[in-house]
Amino acid sequence: MKPKSTVQGLPVYQPGKPLEEVKRELGLEHVIKLASNENPFGCSDRVWPALSEVRDSFHLYPEGLAPELREKLAEHLEVDPLRLIFGNGSDEIVQMIGRAYLEPGAESVMAEITFPRYETHTRIEGATAVKIPLKDGTHDLEAMLAAVNEKTRVVWICNPNNPTGTIVGRDELTAFLDQLPEHVLVVIDEAYHEYVTDPSYPDTVSLLDYDPRIVILRTFSKIYGLAAFRVGYGIAHPDVIRELNRVREPFNVNRLAQKAALAALEDQSFVWYCRNQNRRGIDLITKKLDEWGLPYYPAHGNFILLETGIHSSEVFEDLLHQGVIVRAGHLLGHPNHIRVTVGTEEQNVRFLEALESCLKRKKRLS
Ligand SMILES: Cc1ncc(COP(=O)(O)O)c(C=O)c1O
Repeated sequence: MKPKSTVQGLPVYQPGKPLEEVKRELGLEHVIKLASNENPFGCSDRVWPALSEVRDSFHLYPEGLAPELREKLAEHLEVDPLRLIFGNGSDEIVQMIGRAYLEPGAESVMAEITFPRYETHTRIEGATAVKIPLKDGTHDLEAMLAAVNEKTRVVWICNPNNPTGTIVGRDELTAFLDQLPEHVLVVIDEAYHEYVTDPSYPDTVSLLDYDPRIVILRTFSKIYGLAAFRVGYGIAHPDVIRELNRVREPFNVNRLAQKAALAALEDQSFVWYCRNQNRRGIDLITKKLDEWGLPYYPAHGNFILLETGIHSSEVFEDLLHQGVIVRAGHLLGHPNHIRVTVGTEEQNVRFLEALESCLKRKKRLS
């Protein structure tokens, strides 16, 4: 048996270490997972009661077009419902974009260090991933533009960028779009959109009206705290949505997930709470990092990529043995960094204590 050539040698996605596995392995009761940019506050209290509303419909396929969620989300975003597409996580929409727009001979342009699924789906479709180095941890839109040619079908902009957490501002983005050739689709992945408080962050939904090349990706996995359900969505011109629907699996977002997302959407006070707590957490952590003289990238999402100056596998192991799971930077192209998700205040304090003791043990702090 032989898999298709584009799949041969493709790296298998390495998720963060599961909490229960670590607890078992280390015999520790109190382990905290700050590795996958999940919401430490869980999700809205409204989700659980809403789920019971579908308990008599488990035998029915879900509605493929998610009509109820579509209508409410369109209202919330102030867009035409025809501009929305739902995915089994925004991951699945990345896959749909690859399926619909990429093929052998085509190219897609992305940052060298960014969310890895853009490259994976580019390669699966037999297209070429053109990777452009980041500039100070941020997308270098000028260099990305220079890499665009007649073979380019898609440009991916992760904003805030995972894993660096940096953002591209409105002026840079519009200057980029103004110069970009007509034939290129621009995917702006805003998985962490709701966490951003910086006033220069672009309002991409307003750009859609005059730019039919944009696809915005968002998710219920992050601030809405519904990662287990897998609901993401794309916002784009109806012509693009039509193409994506051709390759979408018919029942891709399950009934429970649609209900959960709808209930979560209706509780915007939970979203505000999480955004505020996240900002406070970033302030708490970065203040300590400044005190210790550890560099970090400006954090606009719910995670911080920080440089310890020690190989990340060593720091990862040390923290793990103290019951704190982070993401090792060598897996993200930053061997001397770790990426930590901003947790609850208690978790942030625990992370800082563990990091301090690790840095002291490794003689990086006195
Ligand atoms: C930038 C980015 N895009 C997309 C995703 C995938 O999110 P989802 O859970 O909606 O598939 C993630 C998840 O970590 C992410 O960081």
